[in-house]
Amino acid sequence: MGIERRRVMRRWLDWPWPLPALLVWLGAWAVYGVLMTWGADSGRALLAAVLAGAVCAWLQPVPWRRLLMAVGFPLSWALSQGVADVPAGLWLGVAFMVLVLYPPSTWGDAPLFPTPTDALDGLRDVAPLPPMARILDVGSGVGDGLKALEQAYPDARLMGVERSWPLVWLSRLRCPSARIRQGDMWRHSWADADLVYVFQRPETMAPAMAKARAEMSPGAWLASLEFAVPDEPPTATWTCPDGRSVWLYQMPPTDSVTDLTASAS
Ligand SMILES: C[S@@+](CC[C@H](N)C(=O)[O-])C[C@H]1O[C@@H](n2cnc3c(N)ncnc32)[C@H](O)[C@@H]1O
Repeated sequence: MGIERRRVMRRWLDWPWPLPALLVWLGAWAVYGVLMTWGADSGRALLAAVLAGAVCAWLQPVPWRRLLMAVGFPLSWALSQGVADVPAGLWLGVAFMVLVLYPPSTWGDAPLFPTPTDALDGLRDVAPLPPMARILDVGSGVGDGLKALEQAYPDARLMGVERSWPLVWLSRLRCPSARIRQGDMWRHSWADADLVYVFQRPETMAPAMAKARAEMSPGAWLASLEFAVPDEPPTATWTCPDGRSVWLYQMPPTDSVTDLTASAS
């Protein structure tokens, strides 16, 4: 198959998340429904639909999205089998919990995936900061990013901003030395920070760079775990022990790229 044809076939993966996942789940349900209508054995129809979903998910480059795409159909199928026995109140309770933990206003950015505690050890060699530097984790979740930053920059003053109230409360307990505010990272000023740490989604990165450029001081850093700013050469990159990259952009951005591997140290 030609490269251009393959690129066209994958274009749907670039649609805003979670549309590609919804498409895959609906597609898997369509496969299942059509096969059942044709009189196929339900086990085989189920297997074919799960495989169809898994193949589409495999095209998705971001691992957590791949997983969500692949498990959506089998999970919804399993729920549909037992749904009659589950009290309605339980569904409402689960829906309420999800909405509190992950408010709809955050759906445009990333859900809760924590930074591993040792992910940023050694980052200081690539993105040096003065003592008592101010570091802001935007979308600080339950505080794992702040803990990893504290380990990498033990003398820094840590700040976080997080949309979900329960996560803010939990992160304050877990990171008592950090100043964590509840709020929208896009409305919160980044001007004070010597380094802004982002662990969000690929789509977050272009607006994050624009905000960093508009607000942050020359010499300050924007650091992103896993997702690069599109069409923007990083000042440096850092490879975490688990193989993921941290993309580093110094204000104003420079063109030189340094690549260091954490596992070597
Ligand atoms: C992938 S998690 C990262 C958590 C943490 N930074 C870490 O690295 O462990 C993304 C977090 O960003 C939060 N978030 C998403 N959009 C946000 C927004 N607009 N303002 C504030 N927080 C947001 C989510 O609630 C979630 O907790």
